[in-house]
Amino acid sequence: MKRRDFLNYTGLGALGVATSGTLAGCSNDEPKVKFWQQGNFRPVAEEVTLTELKVEGTIPPELSGLYVRNGTNSSTGVSEHFFGGDGMMHGVRLENGRAAWYRNRYVDTPVYRKEAGGFGAPQPENTTSAVSLLYHGGELMALGEFGYPYLINPDDLSTKGPYNYDGKLAGNMTAHPRIDPATGELLFFGYDVMEPYLTYYRADKGGTMLQVEPITMSGPSMIHDFAVTQKYVVFMDMQVRFSWLSAIMGSGLPFKWDDSAPCRFGVMPREGSDADVKWFDIPSCFIFHIMNSFDRGDEVIVDAARYDHLWVKSSHDFHYHAHLSRFAMNMKTGQASVERLTGGPMEFPSVNRQRWTRDYRYGYSVAVDKENNAPEKVATSESGLRKYDVVTGEIDEWLPGLALEPGEPMFLASQESGGEDEGYIATYVYDKNTQTSAFCIFEATKLSAGPIAKVQLPVRVPVGFHGVWVPDSVMA
Ligand SMILES: [Fe+2]
Repeated sequence: MKRRDFLNYTGLGALGVATSGTLAGCSNDEPKVKFWQQGNFRPVAEEVTLTELKVEGTIPPELSGLYVRNGTNSSTGVSEHFFGGDGMMHGVRLENGRAAWYRNRYVDTPVYRKEAGGFGAPQPENTTSAVSLLYHGGELMALGEFGYPYLINPDDLSTKGPYNYDGKLAGNMTAHPRIDPATGELLFFGYDVMEPYLTYYRADKGGTMLQVEPITMSGPSMIHDFAVTQKYVVFMDMQVRFSWLSAIMGSGLPFKWDDSAPCRFGVMPREGSDADVKWFDIPSCFIFHIMNSFDRGDEVIVDAARYDHLWVKSSHDFHYHAHLSRFAMNMKTGQASVERLTGGPMEFPSVNRQRWTRDYRYGYSVAVDKENNAPEKVATSESGLRKYDVVTGEIDEWLPGLALEPGEPMFLASQESGGEDEGYIATYVYDKNTQTSAFCIFEATKLSAGPIAKVQLPVRVPVGFHGVWVPDSVMA
């Protein structure tokens, strides 16, 4: 999404915020080198459908279904922020030990079709839907954080259209909803830069909306993710905030670090209301992603990728490391604590989703280079995949060297799965030498051994965000 479309979507265009040219031209925070237009951050030019894919190693025959991952891919080749391109999905269909196809498809929205824009009221259809995917209530959806989700056909990744839960979704939907694995209930939120700043939603396993609850916040926080336990939901009210100054004078997204803002978690019973939210002040930080969360006695535990700071100068400012950290909120005493867990810099935390909302032992993430994780320096840094045992503190890492760049690790359960880590980790891995990507499958119990199967793609899958694995056994 272009900044102009974002401002128009939020209604800020109608309020007179500069949408392009003049005032935006005064910006002094635009980076000289746009890292998102270099290396594997660059968009690909074409949508392709590939069959007869070469496989190195063996795809476990028990894995049948669709892996699909979302990300930005500007159709013009240029976007005003790393997060600002059009949504593009990259999918691989697995069937009985073979890779039936790979295809990449844009999420077909008015923004992609260049029909968005103009001044006026917020239009939740005008989104890029570029951040993640969800399978719930028998529907595959592309999610973009701003705007409505878009329904996607899992057979060919074509876009069916926007979806608003029979009119019950008031506006934005987060790209990080959670499903309770026992009940199938979907818990999520939407945030906005104007009041209500946050709205909580709960839908049953079929997708029928059960609760719509505006939540009182301290101000317009950027809220990328949230936490869910068996009893509670946890909202983040942190220090990256909507900024009028950035909206008028800056480039990129109109959000920025605000030292004067509070930093806190709001804990609410899952079926509670705004009046039930208990707020816990925590040390200054920002969190994009939560690995998992659960109840432990009187405590609510949240494990997350914690940044000391983010976007201090502007929304282009990614020069910070996140570390896996455990927050504990005591519901009896009202006290909160935080400790850094094992492992070095990281992002894209994930778990076996059967453990969502519950006590767990194993997490996974992208391992970020210890010395140098500034994105524009990614060409000289080493990344990998990391498995965490959050009980013992043990780490198992796959560090493939400078040439290979893996994305978000996705846990694929083994069909005979009983143990939490009995299954596979899958992700796209980019090879800088060949400038092509592979869909790689690892045994989750032996991540450091490297992939057991590599589906070679003769194309590049750009750096992206979040995916979903939809096994045939759950596909409607
Ligand atoms: Fe995310």
